[in-house]
Amino acid sequence: MESAENASKKRGLGQAIISGVLEAKLLVPTAHSSGNGKKFRVAVVGCGLIARRSHIPAWKRMGVAITLVDLSQTALDSTGQRFEVDSRFRSLSDLFEHTSVDIVDIATPPDSHCDLAIAALERGCHVIIEKPMCLTVEEVDRVLSVARSRDLKVGVCHDCLYLPAIQHASEYLESGKAGRLNGLILRYLEWNSNPRLDDGGFWYRKLRGDIFYHIIPHVVYLSMKFLGDLEIVSVDTSKISDTTLPFDQLNILMKTKTQQYANIVMSSNSPGGWMEIEFIGERRNVRAGLAFYTFRGGIREGALRPALDTISENLSMFSSITFSLLKGMIRWRSGKTTHFLLFNDFIASIGRRDPGKLPFLCSGEGSRRVVALTNEIAERLQT
Ligand SMILES: NC(=O)c1ccc[n+]([C@@H]2O[C@H](COP(=O)([O-])OP(=O)(O)OC[C@H]3O[C@@H](n4cnc5c(N)ncnc54)[C@H](O)[C@@H]3O)[C@@H](O)[C@H]2O)c1
Repeated sequence: MESAENASKKRGLGQAIISGVLEAKLLVPTAHSSGNGKKFRVAVVGCGLIARRSHIPAWKRMGVAITLVDLSQTALDSTGQRFEVDSRFRSLSDLFEHTSVDIVDIATPPDSHCDLAIAALERGCHVIIEKPMCLTVEEVDRVLSVARSRDLKVGVCHDCLYLPAIQHASEYLESGKAGRLNGLILRYLEWNSNPRLDDGGFWYRKLRGDIFYHIIPHVVYLSMKFLGDLEIVSVDTSKISDTTLPFDQLNILMKTKTQQYANIVMSSNSPGGWMEIEFIGERRNVRAGLAFYTFRGGIREGALRPALDTISENLSMFSSITFSLLKGMIRWRSGKTTHFLLFNDFIASIGRRDPGKLPFLCSGEGSRRVVALTNEIAERLQT
């Protein structure tokens, strides 16, 4: 497979100019321009799927110095070769014996997050952790307590908050055009041919709540972003596919104290992966897909209103989809993925006493409630 570095070299001068102009225009801070001219040193712990797909390309794009850590020599070597990273260690303690870093980025399975985070914080490093931040609220508190005592930052990769459709929907809802938000319907469908799902020995399958545990945080923090704090009303499971999974569909109902509902459907029996949220506003419904952003107007009074609404909705949908596609293409070409944007905000937040630009739900403190709700949901699952 072609390395990310080679691919980016091939894009050539034109790409470099486009990226440079975009970066200047969007005022995205880079590791090099973070203020003191210091180049951050980042250790990526875990060289698996998400590190290779998102973390390492994002850090490389930012120009930081990268060190790789993985228990598996095979994962370490193949990832090091693919991304041309020579600094590699089999464990975090091995790394600290030989060198030092500013940030430790934890992209390992969730049962290792707490110990790795504490080990990194105790060596004076800021820490960014993949979701779920930890397995329990007690673990979260232990991590946060060490971070506070050393005045270090903890960030969590709730990267869907950086999806263009989510940010766009958020701006639209905040503008008040949709009226009061009465609730949302969130669909998170995983493709059914993912070989990891049917592998009883894989770490996904050993978590409380089985395969859903590691993705429940996504639906929880997305719901919390729009509705605020939530309590669980019900959790129900069903099994449709012919797999070894105990269940392959999850229906979660949560609500706020003011009766705004989050109605969530998660499944791993879908022929394709898809995530979308429909926001139920008092005046308008708004639908945000992973890639697209579309409106759906409410029917108002007057004989001609339904027809006029339909025409304006279709026009608005057409322009939204075109706009989203263009924006997505520009972002893809310039490498500004959700993880890239999140890591930039994390770096910008370092050194500030306030959370800086990091959204609250991506901070360790904000993630505490996400972990609590994830566990409450997992407890209600019948395995
Ligand atoms: N944000 C997202 O969209 C997203 C997507 C996928 C996964 N994730 C999260 O990322 C994390 C990793 O998932 P993945 O699918 O990349 O896992 P993976 O199984 O593909 O890779 C994990 C890697 O970590 C290594 N490892 C395990 N324990 C270690 C330790 N103590 N020290 C060093 N290395 C260790 C393993 O050898 C393996 O190479 C999980 O928390 C998962 O929930 C997030």
